[in-house]
Amino acid sequence: MTPVAYVGGQFVPLAEARVSVLDRGFLFADGVYEVIPAYQGRPFGMREHLQRLARSLRELQIQNPHTDAEWTDLVARLMRENAPSAGATDLLVYLQVTRGAPERRAHPFPPGTPPTVIGMCHALPSPGESALRDGVGAITRPDIRWSRCDIKSIALLPNVLAAQAAREQNCNEVILHRDGRVTEGGSSNVFAVLGTSVVTPSKGPEILSGVTRDILLELLRAAKIPVQERRLTLTELRSAEEVWLTSSTREVLPVTRLDGEPVGSRKPGPLWKKAYALFQGAKQDAKRYG
Ligand code: PDD
Repeated sequence: MTPVAYVGGQFVPLAEARVSVLDRGFLFADGVYEVIPAYQGRPFGMREHLQRLARSLRELQIQNPHTDAEWTDLVARLMRENAPSAGATDLLVYLQVTRGAPERRAHPFPPGTPPTVIGMCHALPSPGESALRDGVGAITRPDIRWSRCDIKSIALLPNVLAAQAAREQNCNEVILHRDGRVTEGGSSNVFAVLGTSVVTPSKGPEILSGVTRDILLELLRAAKIPVQERRLTLTELRSAEEVWLTSSTREVLPVTRLDGEPVGSRKPGPLWKKAYALFQGAKQDAKRYG
């Protein structure tokens, strides 16, 4: 029962999966990726993830190598091949497309080079009981990334450094800010409860349009909980009653410590409890799958 990866059009044992040193993903981080959660073996928000993948590729002028039906089949096969080694039915599927491996390294796009597609799948990490019971810690840092964070690019060095900084502080995430505005987490979107409203930074080139973010906004609106997509200042974040993180691997996670200071009552708040319950409900909703 070894994990299986998809590379070069084939399914191979993960430990043997290889790409060329000339691959532009390796040399230039010239590629994009997606992380799709699957609950009970069914990919959640698949349509939205495939739309975002197509958009990221379009923005970088990389040809989309597959139709949505082909991507769907690939994801299903990755889950089938890896469910036994994962020992779980909640899975995470990773897809990556790069601008391929031409005959030599040169910066401009290589004409006639097919994209490289990689797929992997393993057990979906669970946020863990204590994270849901007590919340998690986060630290804040300046956002040093480029100005097209709406593209889900594999160039993640600032995000890697941020994640390491968080780990060293025993925190779950780094919340990034630019000119006094909160942008997003190093690998998540940020929500703050201010008074009776749930506020999250507006979409735009400074943030990744998270699939979990969009689903949660839809759920909150349907439940008549006031939400605002707008500029969120770091000062507001520091005085928020609640702070949450959303992502495909975190679902909706309460932040109860920010830069070592308590957030609100220092416990996951009442609106987070509602949001979390709404999200768990959405996981049972067949229309979110497929
Ligand atoms: N990250 N913002 C950034 C910078 C991200 O990397 C992610 C996801 C999100 C949340 O997007 P979504 O809700 O669609 O997962 C926001 C994935 C999980 C990762 O890089 O592993």
